[in-house]
Amino acid sequence: MNPPPHDWYIACRSDRLRHRPLPITIHGQRLALFRTAEGVPAALSDRCAHRNAPLSLGRIQGNHIQCGYHGWEFDRSGSCRKIPGLADIAGTKGRDVPSFRVAEQQGYVWVHLGPTEAPSSSPFRFPDMGDSSYGLIRYRTVFDAPAFYILENFLDVPHTAFLHRGLFRTSAGRAISVTVRRLSDRVEARYKGEPKPTGLIGSLLASGTGEVTHVDRFFSPSISQIEYRLGESHIIETTALTPENEGRTRLFMEIVFRLRIPKTLAFLLAGPVLFGILRQDARIVSRQYENVRRFGEEKFSFTPIDVLGPHILALWKSQTNERLSAAASQIEQRLEIVL
Ligand code: FES
Repeated sequence: MNPPPHDWYIACRSDRLRHRPLPITIHGQRLALFRTAEGVPAALSDRCAHRNAPLSLGRIQGNHIQCGYHGWEFDRSGSCRKIPGLADIAGTKGRDVPSFRVAEQQGYVWVHLGPTEAPSSSPFRFPDMGDSSYGLIRYRTVFDAPAFYILENFLDVPHTAFLHRGLFRTSAGRAISVTVRRLSDRVEARYKGEPKPTGLIGSLLASGTGEVTHVDRFFSPSISQIEYRLGESHIIETTALTPENEGRTRLFMEIVFRLRIPKTLAFLLAGPVLFGILRQDARIVSRQYENVRRFGEEKFSFTPIDVLGPHILALWKSQTNERLSAAASQIEQRLEIVL
């Protein structure tokens, strides 16, 4: 289950797009990304208008991408600009390839799939605390699972006491209240009464005991965010998902943090735990997807403890259905769960 394709998705980190074209797949669409001599990023369909060769196998010629087969050149709007050996330039007319909107922001190249007229939205902005006391970890990886399984996993609290037993949280059997607020393009769950996580992560947040401020957020179409605050300690983990196809999703994660120990030490101590948690998540969601295919269908049961999953699905549906869109916005509910 993947989000609707007509939106902004991260294609790659800016530093990966340099002097050579890059093949990227988003929502099953194969794109040739390139950066012009003027430094402007561009995305074309990765199929030459001449004989279908992948443009990503070509090279950059000034502000054009040149096909590696017979040397046809295309500009960043996909217009054919040169056909080697053709005396009359008029012969290039109408031999174009589809192009996509591109934006470069905060060190990422974003591509907008869908109609080429100006999109109504802008790419998501990662939190920038603008404060040198915060550290930043950037990480990218690939999960062999649909985006929904990953989003639900990242924004699902109950699994942490089981799948990540001992690493993050134990099942304390404590009542917690949750307030869910949904707008037309996002939903957040605010947890109240949650004790400090156990294990190393909890020790890094604060000494002693205390209640954390914990907020989980989903931003349409495919961004999850988890925020923890306890005293002076503050962590925001944001992950932007780019579906390559139904069963493979690329993740671009940023963690901004301020802890009670130096940033380097925090990374050395927390890094292995965080990456251990990610490995466990990657394994379970890929097995979940494998099993869905084995049984031939998805059968999901939602209960109130699945706090954000049903809202993520409703928001995806609302993007393709205006009637649902009106119904989907402005929801507020209060839940009691036991963790
Ligand atoms: Fe691209 Fe011939 S296939 S120029």
